[in-house]
Amino acid sequence: MITVVVDLGERSYDVVVGAGAAGLLPDVLPAGAKRAAVVTQGSIAFEVDPGVPHERFLLGDGEAAKDLSSVEELCRAWSRWGLTRADVVVAVGGGVVTDVAGFAAAVYHRGVPVVHVPTTLLGMVDAAIGGKTGVNLPEGKNLVGAFWQPAAVLCDLDALRTLPERERRSGLGELAKYHFLSGDDLLALELDERVAAAVRIKAEVVAADEREGGRRAILNYGHTLAHALETAGAYDLRHGEAVAIGLVYAAGLARRLGRIDDAAVAEHRRVVAAYDLPLRMPPGADRDELVALMSRDKKALDGLTFALAGPDGVEVVAGVDPDLAHASLEEVA
Ligand code: GLY
Repeated sequence: MITVVVDLGERSYDVVVGAGAAGLLPDVLPAGAKRAAVVTQGSIAFEVDPGVPHERFLLGDGEAAKDLSSVEELCRAWSRWGLTRADVVVAVGGGVVTDVAGFAAAVYHRGVPVVHVPTTLLGMVDAAIGGKTGVNLPEGKNLVGAFWQPAAVLCDLDALRTLPERERRSGLGELAKYHFLSGDDLLALELDERVAAAVRIKAEVVAADEREGGRRAILNYGHTLAHALETAGAYDLRHGEAVAIGLVYAAGLARRLGRIDDAAVAEHRRVVAAYDLPLRMPPGADRDELVALMSRDKKALDGLTFALAGPDGVEVVAGVDPDLAHASLEEVA
């Protein structure tokens, strides 16, 4: 097992990575936790034993469950069961489960402790770590949420054995992203070490900027185009596939801005290809629509905004010329 500490003062916690990590659940519950509300989805065939009396609470399946009505239903079910702040919520699943259960834990009784047991690669390297929780509105994704740090995160690699191929690809896109945030050769590492390396990078960024006042935005590397592709809704892409295209796009854009050289662009393509992820957008992608969507990204406070590689690593760059952003789309078309 590899343990990574997310260093946030009194809100610090461990992320444990390894096969069988979920077996540590009784040991990582907050001291004195009396009961556990285990939140999961019917489609997730991963069982945990919190070692204290517990009850299962099922969310609906898929991304559709990531809405405010799920939060209300969950809080009402917890209330009927009598959940209090002396108890603990255990979220077992992918990003939908940890985002919804984490947000409900943040607001129920003004905050109950939560332990995340991510069962997807994406959850392990991103969604379950760092305390961002929330749900979608019909108007957009993740528009309502809270920062609520978990008490611990258990990344049990055994859960990945049954992960559907497209889910796995989704996680690989996020994993690819970390190659460019650290500069380390993550491809040289075994899976457990690679997941732990990604967790370590995320933990360091979150510890430096918990509430995304600045640096944390670099975790959105590759995500501006990815979100636009996802919001357009016309393309059959998993999140990680969209991020992969977004990484290649961001590299080309950084090259046009003179921030990186051709070798760095080639390195982006090499890493994305090594994960067998797409380097290009699906045929027929509407470039005008994508630039318009990127301009409306909720991070775009000061014109078109991207996390872009440069001489000092990945940084947030605001006020990018829309014509340049449009022209760069040709490279991934
Ligand atoms: N997924 C980006 C972040 O946690 O900040």
